[in-house]
Amino acid sequence: AFRNKLTFFAAAKSSSSFPPPELPEIAFAGRSNVGKSSLLNALTRQWGVVRTSDKPGLTQSINFFNLGSKLCLVDLPGYGFAYAKEEVKDAWEELVKEYVSTRVGLKRVCLLVDTKWGMKPRDHELINLMERCTSQTKYQIVLTKTDMVFPIDVARHAMQIEESLKANKSVVQPLMMVSSKSGAGIRSLRTVLSKIARF
Ligand code: GTP
Ligand code: MG
Repeated sequence: AFRNKLTFFAAAKSSSSFPPPELPEIAFAGRSNVGKSSLLNALTRQWGVVRTSDKPGLTQSINFFNLGSKLCLVDLPGYGFAYAKEEVKDAWEELVKEYVSTRVGLKRVCLLVDTKWGMKPRDHELINLMERCTSQTKYQIVLTKTDMVFPIDVARHAMQIEESLKANKSVVQPLMMVSSKSGAGIRSLRTVLSKIARF
């Protein structure tokens, strides 16, 4: 699936402008700057379709991408972005929560967590929301930027997180570990996510 052409097709700042759900959908969520947009680029090997930035808070709307009409990949705005105005922050967060809990066709949420910083309260909030909602959406944790941390620390963080989610119902384990920079783990994640595509 990930060899197909990636095309941007919709940006939404409110739920009324979500496009009709026509494909199985995979969304990328997580704190601002965790590497969501970069991961989309690495997975599809199509640099430049999804914009990335050093400045946190770049992605300010929910962006929908069509992957060869087999999958819809969704780049979510990051939460916890410290410099944004409080009202703007709340609006993004509400939008992400609404999307995650109501979106028809949403098969998987990849919750990205920076390996160096681990899970934060906002991540747990999103997890709790997904555990509570009645939709069939599964989520999985993806540790990002593993190139920034010693391998032994990556493994330790991974084990701690897996352990802490053991009793959860909607989580897909084991968690994945990736670096969009070095390419580590990207193929494995592609394999896992390809199973969701429409063939
Ligand atoms: P928002 O749109 O603000 O929510 O951020 P985002 O989660 O989309 O992050 P983005 O992909 O824009 O990346 C943020 C910064 O992290 C950029 O400077 C990237 O180059 C860097 N980055 C992303 N992935 C990696 C990685 O695997 N390793 C390293 N070292 N840096 C990375
Ligand atoms: Mg982004």
